Amino acid sequence: MIKKGIILSGGHGTRMSPLTKAVNKQLLPIYDKPLIYYSLSILMMAKIKEILIIVNKGQIDLYKKLLLNGNNLGIKIEYKEQKYPKGLPDAFILGKKFIGKKNVALILGDNFFYGKSLVSKLLKSSKLKKGAEVFLHKVNNPKLFGVAKLNSKKEIIGIKEKPKKKYSNLAITGLYFFDNQVVKLSKSLKPSKRKELEITDLLRKYQLKNQLFSNDIGKKGFWLDAGSMEDYYKTIKFVGSIQKKKKKYIGCLEEIALKNKWISKKHIISSIKFYGNCDYSNYLKKLIN
Ligand code: DAU
Repeated sequence: MIKKGIILSGGHGTRMSPLTKAVNKQLLPIYDKPLIYYSLSILMMAKIKEILIIVNKGQIDLYKKLLLNGNNLGIKIEYKEQKYPKGLPDAFILGKKFIGKKNVALILGDNFFYGKSLVSKLLKSSKLKKGAEVFLHKVNNPKLFGVAKLNSKKEIIGIKEKPKKKYSNLAITGLYFFDNQVVKLSKSLKPSKRKELEITDLLRKYQLKNQLFSNDIGKKGFWLDAGSMEDYYKTIKFVGSIQKKKKKYIGCLEEIALKNKWISKKHIISSIKFYGNCDYSNYLKKLIN
């Protein structure tokens, strides 16, 4: 079982400036919670309890104010600074000590996932022993993402980062599961033309060894990289409408922790105190009554 997960929560955030001039993108609201709640909830649904959050220089205190050390959620959160955005695989170089000799998951702090069968898929992926696994999702605008080409057996036969020409409409989403080779392989990467280490170059190394596997988030699954204003507002609208319809929160960290039996009523009470009088606390109250 993969027990460790990294949330990459730094970056320039230029695409959403001026919103992100003073506030980190992953701390902006998606309906009633900060964006990072949703990526953390995905790792927690995969039963990952040891978390490393990588943030921009000087931002650790901001994140700590919100998520503390994870005690109230029955998880352990560590933080690390990235001096400047060197690319996604830098997560494994910065996280070398955290990862140790274990396998590790990575989720991008600005990615949002929702799907009926997602939890069972996550649990299956977290059983990964060797190689790497990515989650693919069909998109209309593949130019904006890393994409993968599959053969008829659903094996990945090619990968491209932000293809200019038509290549595949299957985006490689920001959720990845890796074996321990990832640290060494990340260190061997060279920066691309845009002067960043590319996750697609890292994945290609696995693909060339026939060790790259693909999964999907399900046909009815919803995935968004809240990287543009349009997608950001789409995500907010989606969360609001699902929560209203189902009368159930998406990304409620305490609810997931309770369901995983990582915490008890006393932790929820302490969370309610921590958040104060708000709708989120009212929702938590209902979980223990
Ligand atoms: O969202 C999925 C896509 O994410 C993948 O399909 C692409 O293959 C992958 O390269 C990435 O593309 P983006 O252009 O969306 O990556 P971006 O630079 O926006 O970074 C994604 C998140 O990671 C964002 O929240 C900022 C954070 N980040 C990024 C870099 C490069 C860091 O924290 N540190 C970094 O060094």
